[in-house]
Amino acid sequence: NSPVDIAPAYEGRASLEVDVEGGVSTLQLTKVTMEDSRLYQCSVRIPNDDEGTPIASTSVLVLPPSKPICTLQGKAEYYSDITLTCKSEEGSPAPTYQWASYSVDNIQRQFPLKTTEDGVLSLFNITRETSGFFICISQNNIGSASCNFTLAV
Ligand SMILES: *[C@@H]1O[C@H](CO)[C@@H](O)[C@H](O)[C@H]1NC(C)=O
Ligand SMILES: *[C@@H]1O[C@H](CO)[C@@H](O)[C@H](O)[C@H]1NC(C)=O
Repeated sequence: NSPVDIAPAYEGRASLEVDVEGGVSTLQLTKVTMEDSRLYQCSVRIPNDDEGTPIASTSVLVLPPSKPICTLQGKAEYYSDITLTCKSEEGSPAPTYQWASYSVDNIQRQFPLKTTEDGVLSLFNITRETSGFFICISQNNIGSASCNFTLAV
């Protein structure tokens, strides 16, 4: 029941609930980010008693997809074959990627959008009509993020 000393990185985000009678201590963290992914250790101190298991730890993993970075490989010119790559640097389980395409008038269009599992979209023999906005959504079961790539041919 002494004052809890909270490190700067956790100030305002960590709270501790200790139920001595029930033998339960709960550490609650809010606004968690990837930085909080680590082992958390709990130790129990009973004066004059060092039997048993005084220390245990558990791992916490916080990995929503980061905002994906969308890049173009190839030249955005007539009759080129190009690829658009979408990649979240962070995310676990590994994010899945999905591309959608909008015309310059911002109307969604049906392309044969061939996307590989790792977020690569191939476009063949591009023309002016290929121009528009290409949105990639990166998603895992913790969250999603997207990028918006403008292609001008
Ligand atoms: C690319 O498209 C143009 C016109 O749309 C067509 O004439 C040409 O044959 C196509 N090239 C390939 C490699 O498919
Ligand atoms: C993509 O960006 C363009 C240009 O900024 C914008 O007009 C369009 O609404 C955006 N699309 C989405 C789905 O965010």
